[in-house]
Amino acid sequence: MQAIVQRRYGPPEVLGLEEIERPVPAAREVLVRVRAASVNPADWHAVRGRPFLVRLVGYGLRRPTHRTPGTDVAGVVEAIGDDVSGLRPGDEVFGWARGSYAEYALARPDRLARKPSTLSFEQAAAVPTAAVTALQGLRDCGRLARGQEVLVIGASGGVGTFAVQIATAAGARVTGVCGARNAPFVRSLGADEVLDYGREDVVRAGRRYDLVFQLAGTCSPLALRRVLRPTGTLVLCSGDGPLSGLDRIALAAVVTRFGSQRLVAFVAKQRDRDLATLQELIEAGSIRPILDRTYPLADTPGALRYVEARHARGKVVIAA
Ligand SMILES: NC(=O)c1ccc[n+]([C@@H]2O[C@H](COP(=O)([O-])OP(=O)(O)OC[C@H]3O[C@@H](n4cnc5c(N)ncnc54)[C@H](OP(=O)(O)O)[C@@H]3O)[C@@H](O)[C@H]2O)c1
Repeated sequence: MQAIVQRRYGPPEVLGLEEIERPVPAAREVLVRVRAASVNPADWHAVRGRPFLVRLVGYGLRRPTHRTPGTDVAGVVEAIGDDVSGLRPGDEVFGWARGSYAEYALARPDRLARKPSTLSFEQAAAVPTAAVTALQGLRDCGRLARGQEVLVIGASGGVGTFAVQIATAAGARVTGVCGARNAPFVRSLGADEVLDYGREDVVRAGRRYDLVFQLAGTCSPLALRRVLRPTGTLVLCSGDGPLSGLDRIALAAVVTRFGSQRLVAFVAKQRDRDLATLQELIEAGSIRPILDRTYPLADTPGALRYVEARHARGKVVIAA
């Protein structure tokens, strides 16, 4: 099969398209014929091996342990292991796999769900990490509720486009922070108000929110506390910085202990039940994936470079 292969850490150019052996599913694995994959910031972090901390969490200290990058996937079940039930060859699925920048990839059955019937494979591949992060960040960490004032910082990106739609669908009043060129687009997703981060300082604007979801920007968590209502929640999602967000997790734990406001830093979990929730929201027409660009598998480096520039509008997809 054709697959993107990486032998060392480095810029996206270290990736090459090669002919390698098709993987064989173990007893509790599913082989997916990849129709599309999507790119998340975590993918270029993994390819670069940066921040260094990512190498300590299973990526390989000196060189990448997994030769083919990519996690988010949509495709068709090709084969199942002996102990897999509930999925059959021919099923159209979406979720998380190991090495989805390839024609075939292995996945655990509990990391897959039925592809929403209303979506193409490219659209479905855009959903898993970004939408599950938005769902878990708002619903589980942020305790999203009808009537709340919600601020989404980074509203035009992969996670932000889902966050604006999920919060709107839940009956919240949403303010999105994005660049000027994206303001009409973020409004079209359901945001009631839009702040241009080039012209307005969220902290100085003086508004208070029940829930702030931080996906971008350089505002410190302590500064963002000032835009929270007394019992508000700040959900920190951005994993940037040399400590991959561990510093924010520690700070959040300390601040939450000594005040009425909550600060939560989290890492999204890959759960099939959340995929199923999103499938329902999508099929009901409450949310939809927004595709910015689609790249062919051979131009995976181009896709990663584009996402790394941090100005994607919605999701970037790789069609296998
Ligand atoms: N904790 C987790 O489990 C988890 C999971 C997924 C993602 N993440 C993290 O969450 C963050 C967002 O992920 P993503 O996939 O949404 O990234 P993304 O798609 O690359 O975000 C790009 C968007 O960010 C906007 N942006 C850039 N600078 C901004 C600023 N100063 N203020 C507001 N918006 C700004 C850009 O808008 P303009 O073009 O208008 O500048 C662009 O639309 C990343 O740091 C990622 O690592 C964490």
